[in-house]
Amino acid sequence: MADKKATLSVNGKTIELPVYSGTAGPDVIDVRGLVQEGLFTYDPGFVSTAACESQITYIDGSKGILLHRGYPIEQLAEKSDYLEVCYLLIYGELPTAAQAEKFRNTVKNHTMVHEQLNHFFNGFRRDAHPMAIMCGVVGALSAFYHDTMDFSDELHREIAAFRLIAKMPTLAAMCYKYSMGQPFMYPRNDLDYASNFLYMMFATPCENYQVNPVLARAMDRIFTLHADHEQNASTSTVRLAGSSGANPFACIASGIAALWGPAHGGANEAVLNMLMEIGDEERIPEFIERAKDKNDPFRLMGFGHRVYKNFDPRAKVMKKTCDEVLSELGCADDPLFRIAMKLEQIALEDPYFAEKKLYPNVDFYSGIILRAAGIPVSMFTVIFAMARTIGWFSHWHEMVSGPYRIGRPRQLYTGHTSREYPQK
Ligand code: ACO
Repeated sequence: MADKKATLSVNGKTIELPVYSGTAGPDVIDVRGLVQEGLFTYDPGFVSTAACESQITYIDGSKGILLHRGYPIEQLAEKSDYLEVCYLLIYGELPTAAQAEKFRNTVKNHTMVHEQLNHFFNGFRRDAHPMAIMCGVVGALSAFYHDTMDFSDELHREIAAFRLIAKMPTLAAMCYKYSMGQPFMYPRNDLDYASNFLYMMFATPCENYQVNPVLARAMDRIFTLHADHEQNASTSTVRLAGSSGANPFACIASGIAALWGPAHGGANEAVLNMLMEIGDEERIPEFIERAKDKNDPFRLMGFGHRVYKNFDPRAKVMKKTCDEVLSELGCADDPLFRIAMKLEQIALEDPYFAEKKLYPNVDFYSGIILRAAGIPVSMFTVIFAMARTIGWFSHWHEMVSGPYRIGRPRQLYTGHTSREYPQK
C-alpha cells in the first residue's frame, strides 16, 4: 500500500497518485490511473520509468553499487563463482554445499545440444557474425523442447533454466568452430563451467588440450560480472517479449538481438576495435578530441553508462582481473592494455568526461582479457550473451511467476490527423 501521495495538476484538474517506496532506491509514482484521466506519461528511453517490481538486482549508479539479491558484486566476483551466482539469481539465496553440488550436476546433464541442431549451422555463411547465428540457434531451441512447454509449471521453468545455462556455452563454442571450419567439440562434463567452455572453443579432436586455470578463473569472473544488470535494454526486451506469453527460448533470442548493438553488449567488441584503431599512445589526444566534438559521431567506447554516474564497480574488478591474466600470460606489456590504461587516465583528467560523469564501464577491460585468452573480437558479445542469459531468464521467471500483463507502451502521436484518400 502506498503511504505517500503525489499531486499532479493538469488541464485545470488535480489528480492524486500513489507513491511507493522500495527497500532501496528512489520512490516511484504510480501513474497507471492516468489513462482513465485521458493522459499518458512521456519518457522516451525509459529514463525515469520503472516498468516492473523486482527483487533480483539493485544498482545505485551514483555510489557505484551493484547488488545481486543483496550481495555486492565485488564479493560475488571474489568469493563465489558463476554457477553459484546463477543459483542465487534464480532462487534468491546462495546454495548450501549440497544444493550447489546438485545444481552443478544437473546443469552438466544438459550441456549437449540436440544433434539435429548441428544442421542449423550449415545454413549460415562461415563469415556470418556469431551474434547473428546465436539469435537463430537460441531461438531454434524453442522448436526442440516440447516436453516441458507448460511455463505455468514451475518445474518446466526450472528445466528451461538448466537447459539455457548448460547449452549457451556449447552453442557459443559451436559458432566459433563453425567460423573456423573446425569440427564441433562435444562438452566435457568432468570440467568446470568455464574450463569446459574454453575446451569446446580451443580443443580439436587431434590433440590434447589443457585448460589454463588462470584463464578459466578469469572467464568465470567475466561470466559472473555480466550475469545480470536489472532492467537494461536486453532484459527489458526479454520481459516485454515474455509478457505476451512467448516461449522463453524465443524470448532469450530477443534479448540476444537487443544486446548486440554497440551502445549495449556490442561495446566490448567496439572497445577493442577502437584501441586497435588508436594503435599508439601518441594518438590518444586525437581520439579524445573526436569524442568531445559534437559534430563527430565518434564516442569513447567502454565509457559512460546510463545508470553509473560515478564508477562501474564491475570495471574495477575487471581491471584487476586483466592485470592478473596479462601477467600470467607474460604479456603485462601488452600495447593495447597500455593504450587502454593511458586512455582511461587522460579521459578521467579531462573536464568533459568529469562534467558528463563518464567513467569506464565493465566492457572497457573485458575485451583485453578475452583477446589475451585467444578469443576473436567477433565472439566478445557472444560471451556477454552467454553470461547474461541467466539474468534474462531470472527476470522472465520472476515476471511469469506472478501476475503480469502484456507490455504495451503508449505514444505521443505527432503525425497527420485523419485524411481522406484522394480521388483517382
Ligand atoms: N564518449 C563521448 N561522449 C559521451 C560518451 C562517450 N562514450 N557517452 C556519453 N557521452 C556524452 C553524450 O554525447 C552526451 O553529451 P551531451 O549531453 O552534450 O549531448 C552525454 O554524454 C550523455 O550521453 P547520452 O548518450 O545521452 O547518455 P545515455 O545514458 O543515453 O547513454 C551510453 C549511455 C549508451 C552507455 C553512452 O554513454 C555510450 O554510448 N557509451 C559508449 C558505448 C558503451 O560503452 N556502451 C556500453 C554500456 S555498458 C553495457 O551495456 C554493458
